[in-house]
Amino acid sequence: MKLISELLAQNERHIQRLIQSRHALLSAAAAHLFQAGGKRIRPTFVLLVSQALGGISQSQQRLAEITEMIHTASLLHDDVVDEASKRRGIDTVNTRFSNRIAVLAGDFLFAQSSWYLANLNNLEVVKFISKLISDLAEGEMRQTSTQFSTQFELWAYLEKSFYKTASLFACSAKATCMLSNDHEDNHHHKNMYLLGQHLGIAFQIMDDVLDISGDISQMGKTLSADFVSGNLTAPILFALTQEAGLVTLLERECCYTQDAYQVRQMVWDTYGIEQAKDLAFEHMQAALACLASLAPSEAKDALYDLANQMISRQR
Ligand code: FPP
Ligand code: MG
Ligand code: MG
Repeated sequence: MKLISELLAQNERHIQRLIQSRHALLSAAAAHLFQAGGKRIRPTFVLLVSQALGGISQSQQRLAEITEMIHTASLLHDDVVDEASKRRGIDTVNTRFSNRIAVLAGDFLFAQSSWYLANLNNLEVVKFISKLISDLAEGEMRQTSTQFSTQFELWAYLEKSFYKTASLFACSAKATCMLSNDHEDNHHHKNMYLLGQHLGIAFQIMDDVLDISGDISQMGKTLSADFVSGNLTAPILFALTQEAGLVTLLERECCYTQDAYQVRQMVWDTYGIEQAKDLAFEHMQAALACLASLAPSEAKDALYDLANQMISRQR
């Protein structure tokens, strides 16, 4: 959509300004990942929901920028936690600068997003977005505390994925409704929250699928990073229900040279990838159902496309 691409280009310019610091190194570290590009799914989502609800206000545009800042802040911390060296095809902030600088730049981005959030002057929106920031930390903590746990179940994986990823989509969709002209229409609030929740879950499942089945030249980050570090995701959990040998490999934390290769093979052989993709598809369908209450519009059609992209994406 032309309007959305123009606003997204404007968002990029705004974000450059919002993340300026007095300290040159802090500015450089905070800007590093933005400059590498990225899919910008979260601001696109907020702008499309805003437009589908009747038009994009300045507050909603700022909210779109804030969601990308929060997401980027969490990635800076995530790459430290995951000891990741590549993201979006370039060195991560922890590799290019250091762990310390990456943590501080992430803190700075969280602080800047909180400042601009407060400046929206809407206490309910501040509460909702603050909740999603604490959800990010809880999701990561749930993941860390279940590393290499072969007892980890699909429902717990889905709950963790909600906190880690989908809460950001759900809460920002609800906040978008709160900032719209017809903010008293609770019907939309509920549907848009659920839309974000299902899109976010579909997005995370596909992220986890691509970690195993993705093409390295398109991904811009290290593959198989999840299960090698003990993060047992949907494809692995499906495979575990059918292949007892997988338990041995995971419980010895893939410590032998051929282990990672064998895990991947078992996941493919037991259709773990296909089953995970089917689960993502179900969430995508549930997301589409949430769009039914919106009046027909170009933005609504674009939301349909965005939901489809969640499961067809290759990176
Ligand atoms: C990417 O997941 C990471 C997230 C979706 C959330 C990361 C959140 C934190 C590290 C906590 C944030 C901290 C505060 C202060 C709230 P991934 O590692 O599965 O994806 P990747 O393959 O892109 O790295
Ligand atoms: Mg990571
Ligand atoms: Mg991680």
